[in-house]
Amino acid sequence: MKWYREPVADGNCVLAPGRVNLIGEHIDYHGLAVLPMALRRGVRAVFRRRADRRIRAVSPGYGTRDFEWTADLAPVAAGDWENYLRAAALVARKFRGNPVGINVEILSDLPAAAGLASSSALLVAVTLGLLRANGYNPRFEELMEVLPDGEQFVGTRGGGMDHAASLASRAGCASLVSFEPLAVRHIAIPEDWAFLVADSGVRAEKSGAAREDYNARRRGGVRALERLGLPSYREAKPEDAARLEVPEERDAFLHTATEAARVQAAVEAMEARDLAAFGELLVESHASLRDRLRVSCAALDALVERALAAGAAGARLTGAGFGGSVVICCERARMGAIRRALPEAIEAEPGPGALEGAF
Ligand code: GLA
Repeated sequence: MKWYREPVADGNCVLAPGRVNLIGEHIDYHGLAVLPMALRRGVRAVFRRRADRRIRAVSPGYGTRDFEWTADLAPVAAGDWENYLRAAALVARKFRGNPVGINVEILSDLPAAAGLASSSALLVAVTLGLLRANGYNPRFEELMEVLPDGEQFVGTRGGGMDHAASLASRAGCASLVSFEPLAVRHIAIPEDWAFLVADSGVRAEKSGAAREDYNARRRGGVRALERLGLPSYREAKPEDAARLEVPEERDAFLHTATEAARVQAAVEAMEARDLAAFGELLVESHASLRDRLRVSCAALDALVERALAAGAAGARLTGAGFGGSVVICCERARMGAIRRALPEAIEAEPGPGALEGAF
C-alpha cells in the first residue's frame, strides 16, 4: 500500500509493522526462541500532543474513541478496539506518571485477525505515540518488559514475539528472538529466497473465540512441565513425553520440545542457505501444529498443500492458528508460479521494526 512510505507533512508519526512468523509457533509463551520477520505493512499512528489528559483516536472504518487517560483504566466491552488504546495507555503510564493526552489518527494496511499481529502492531504504535508525545523515547528492553502484559489486558496470555518483531526487526533479515535473557539476533535472508503470505479468510479474533483455545494450549504445555517436575522447557527433551499420560498435555509437550529444536535447525539452514532443509522444517512444524497442538483448520491445511504442490520449498500456518494465514517459502525464481496457483498469496518482504530508524 502506498501510504506506508509516504512522508507525513504534519504531526508526528510512528509506524509499527506486523510480522510473519517463519518458525517457532506457540512456544514464545514458554520462553523459547522464535524466528519471525517484520512485514512492510503495519499500523501508522499520526499523533499530536494535547494540553489535557484525553486520548482521542480516529481510524477509518473503526470510528472515534475518546477517553480520559487516568491511572486506573478498566477494559470496555470485549472486542472493542478501544481496549488496545487503553492497554497502550496503561503501558505508557509505567514510564510517565503525569502525562498529557494525544489526538491520534490510526491507519493500517494489515488485515485484522489474519495471524499477522495487527493487534500487537496497534498496541506498539499507540504506546510509542503516547510516550513520544510525552518526550520519552523508550528502549527496546524497557518496552519488552511491559508490552506483553498490555496484551493480557485485552485477554490473551500471549508471549513477546509480536512486539519484539514489530520493534526490533531489520530490513532483509529474520529475527531470532530469545527471551531468557531477551535478545534479538538478525539473520540475513538469502536474496534468492522469497516468502509469501496467503490469508485463509478464516478469521481468528484474538479477543473473541480463539482466545480460550489459545489459552488452553498454553495451559496444557505448562501442566505437562509441572507434571514432569521440570523448571522450564529449556530442560525438556522430546523423550520425556513418554512419562505423560494425559493426551493433550503429552501432545502440547511434544509440540513445544520439537518446535524449539526446529527453530535452531531452521536458523542453521538459513545461514547455510539450504532452502530445502528450511522448507522441510516448515512442513514438519505445520504437521506438529495440526496433529499435536490441533490449532490448524481445513482451510489452512489446504493452502499448505496447494503451495507445496505448486513448488514451494515449505509452508505452514503462521501465528496463533485457528484461521489466519500461512507462510510459504520458495526460490525467488518460483514465486510467479506459486502466485499463479495461489492468487491470494502476497509477497512478504522483510522490513524494519519501529525502533530501527525506518520511520
Ligand atoms: C499469537 C501470540 C504470540 C504467539 C503466537 C503463536 O500471535 O500473540 O505471542 O504465541 O500466537 O506462536
